[in-house]
Amino acid sequence: MCKAWYNNIIFIFCVLFLCFCRKAEEIKNEDDLNDWYSGGKQTVFINGSNAFSQSFNGMSELKLQQHEIGDKGFAAVFNSDPNQLNYGLGPIFNNVSCGSCHIGDGRGKAPNIGEPLSSLLLRISSGNDINNGPQDAQGFGGQLQQRAILGTNAECIITVNYTENAFQFADGETYSLRTPVYTLNNPYTTLPAGYLISARMATPVFGLGLLEAISETDILKNADELDVNGDGISGKANYGYNVIENKKQLGRFGWKAAMPTIIQQSAGAYNQDMGVTNFIFPIESSYGQPQYTLSNGKKDLADSTLSAVAFYIKTLAVPGRRDANNEEVKKGKNIFKQIGCAKCHIQTFITQTNMTSPETSNQRIFPYTDMLVHDMGNGLADNRNDYNATGNEWRTSPLWGIGLTNIVNGHNNFLHDGRARNFIEAIMWHSGEADATKNNFKNLSKTERDAVIKFLNSL
Ligand code: HEC
Ligand code: HEC
Repeated sequence: MCKAWYNNIIFIFCVLFLCFCRKAEEIKNEDDLNDWYSGGKQTVFINGSNAFSQSFNGMSELKLQQHEIGDKGFAAVFNSDPNQLNYGLGPIFNNVSCGSCHIGDGRGKAPNIGEPLSSLLLRISSGNDINNGPQDAQGFGGQLQQRAILGTNAECIITVNYTENAFQFADGETYSLRTPVYTLNNPYTTLPAGYLISARMATPVFGLGLLEAISETDILKNADELDVNGDGISGKANYGYNVIENKKQLGRFGWKAAMPTIIQQSAGAYNQDMGVTNFIFPIESSYGQPQYTLSNGKKDLADSTLSAVAFYIKTLAVPGRRDANNEEVKKGKNIFKQIGCAKCHIQTFITQTNMTSPETSNQRIFPYTDMLVHDMGNGLADNRNDYNATGNEWRTSPLWGIGLTNIVNGHNNFLHDGRARNFIEAIMWHSGEADATKNNFKNLSKTERDAVIKFLNSL
């Protein structure tokens, strides 16, 4: 009894102490924080085409080696010849290496009209499974593979067309929004009735170890599913399925935040995007199709390669800001906050402490995302549930490093299917929960809009 009392007092003291420390951090004026360091101590000031490909600072020699092995794995081109290295591609696949879609550890590019798909892929499904995840489409699985090794059939050939609409700001500046329309040609067998598709462009992969290190509590704090505070913005956590631990888990990765962990996303990519089987996903994506043969059934990838590649992604640093003290950039940042962008693109988090990962522990980071999904309106909708995320809902994209996209990737294709060709188009596609904010942006003067864009370019 006496002992219990004593323990309680110690416990209460600890809680108060932690609360106090936390408060002391929080009451700091956000504007006074040094947000040049987007990734906390895992920030690098390299602005060239390799800006997204830098390893964490301060890693041990052993971890650095692991990172480098993973780097090679990420770049490795797979093939279908059993006598060669990196064997196991296909029989059906989307692309030949991780790096062929996540170009320079950055994003993919939307295909032009008539161009074959390369770094953009289409998910396919028929309704939902018991966990509300997308249900595989009969004969096609969960993803359309538009390429195949010699002697086998691709699932179908995908072509894209865009319908385009022109618009104008009040001051006469014009912009144009293009909507992609995908056609599935020559399916190897009949497509199931009522199938659903979702186009996804390859995302940037740097800084993900830090996003994985944000605590669930801190993410859930910003969720307001029923919009209790009445600001028109709800924000909802998505819960995907952790296949290793066999449980539902807060999703963080992918355009709908349906994926709980980096290792599972990577294993899924090997299996689905490249046809490379591994210990997490040992069954070929072609299973049940005519091109599936038993010889495809053996595990293609060494367990150590998968671990190293996941580790590589977890330990990619974040590029620091440029021009953060420029007056126009500072003005743009203020407008970004005033008109409501920062309600979803949350500026800053502190990562949680993790004994096994001192590199990601207790860092003040500036990712400009809330890691939640939001209704973005019918224009962007894929009309397909992905766990908790409805057809209209997408994860708030992290904006850190986004100003270097053109330098690393040679284009400014934004949004989940790359339909936006610059920042203005990306913003003007915002709708649904972001309607009011988008309209605020629309009503800005040209000088103010330019300042917001200049701010985005400084991230
Ligand atoms: C055919 C193109 C393609 C290939 C090849 C590919 N990816 Fe991806 N990757 C994507 C797309 C598309 C997404 C977004 C998926 C979604 O929204 O569900 C993605 C998302 C990811 C993410 C989550 C990023 C985030 O910010 O949420 C990781 C991690 C990832 N891929 C790792 C890999 C690894 C590792 C490989 C190689 C084994 C790989 N990818 C190969 C297209 C590709
Ligand atoms: C209601 C929440 C919300 C608000 C408010 C909001 N955004 Fe977004 N933003 C999102 C979501 C969700 C996406 C991803 C949409 C998609 O890919 O279809 C996104 C995507 C973006 C992208 C493209 C990122 C990428 O990687 O492709 C940019 C740029 C962007 N937002 C800037 C802004 C700016 C500037 C404002 C203020 C004018 C703003 N956003 C307001 C939720 C929001």
